[in-house]
Amino acid sequence: MDTFLKALPKAELHLHIEGSLEPELMFGLARRNGVDLPYQSVEEVRAAYDFSDLQSFLDLYYQGMAVLQTPRDFHDLAMDYFRRAASEGVVHVDLSFDPQAHLKRGIGLDVQMEGLLGAMDEAERELDLSTGLILSFLRDEPVASAAEVLEQAQPWLDRIDAVGLDSAEMGYPPGPFAEVFRRARELGIPGVAHAGEEGPPEYIQGALDDLQVIRVDHGVRCLEDPGLVRRLKEERVPLTVCPLSNVRLKVVERMTDHPLPRLLAAGLTLTINSDDPAYFGGGVLDNYRACHSAFGWGQETFRQLARNALEAAFMPEARRQALLTELAV
Ligand code: ADE
Ligand code: ZN
Repeated sequence: MDTFLKALPKAELHLHIEGSLEPELMFGLARRNGVDLPYQSVEEVRAAYDFSDLQSFLDLYYQGMAVLQTPRDFHDLAMDYFRRAASEGVVHVDLSFDPQAHLKRGIGLDVQMEGLLGAMDEAERELDLSTGLILSFLRDEPVASAAEVLEQAQPWLDRIDAVGLDSAEMGYPPGPFAEVFRRARELGIPGVAHAGEEGPPEYIQGALDDLQVIRVDHGVRCLEDPGLVRRLKEERVPLTVCPLSNVRLKVVERMTDHPLPRLLAAGLTLTINSDDPAYFGGGVLDNYRACHSAFGWGQETFRQLARNALEAAFMPEARRQALLTELAV
């Protein structure tokens, strides 16, 4: 099974590139940029990754990214992840990034884009890894700030595949961002949004109605609303589920409690993803493996999950068809 899961052409649709910052690289970049870290060793960093909920993770996530200062740092961060992903049989990544988290620290969008786009081009050339880019807005920052970032992003619109919505969910429903997502669609950019990770099913409904998203990130709490489950199924809305993340952030207590089998039985369009692999104990392959251990799924289930991801990914049609053919044999 392990050989099969590794060889499966996997697409990762839910990956925060800042959440792929491994402690080793964090120390390397801190040294390069003269940034003080509140840790003495890699072991101490890993020991600090003991989260009680989403916010306790976000506090360390925003702190960790302070080492990212130059285009080269963003490039090295992304390449470090792309190499690891390619070695695990990942063939495509839709990576998201949080521009506001860097702008707040005085790091311009041009710095971020130069580093990330350079790495994406290099990955396509050297690792045969295709990539899509999602510009994510922080839902716990003012809507005006999101609107401003979208306008600032105009020079790179041809490289941005979607806008997203992430960060602290409870108390931050999607509705207020409707106008920003409408503006993005006017610019030709579709939306995706985190919803129903910690937040209630109403936030998933809001992401569909108010933001008109084409994918829902997480979405696991949809099960609390049968009408919503019916709608997600009928409209074939892809959910980017991140099981190891849900365990580490205590959305569920353990893998065997995860709602994935129920989501699958409900006929939803599911994909398996890593979210923040450096913080949650593994990449896409580890998430597939964890599902195999917990649920005992067979090859056909994993093939279907991988097919869902290829079908929902932001990639050129010719590549999608080639990868779907590869998956079928
Ligand atoms: N930012 C990075 N990871 C996130 C997650 N799992 N939920 C919300 N915002 C995030
Ligand atoms: Zn996420």
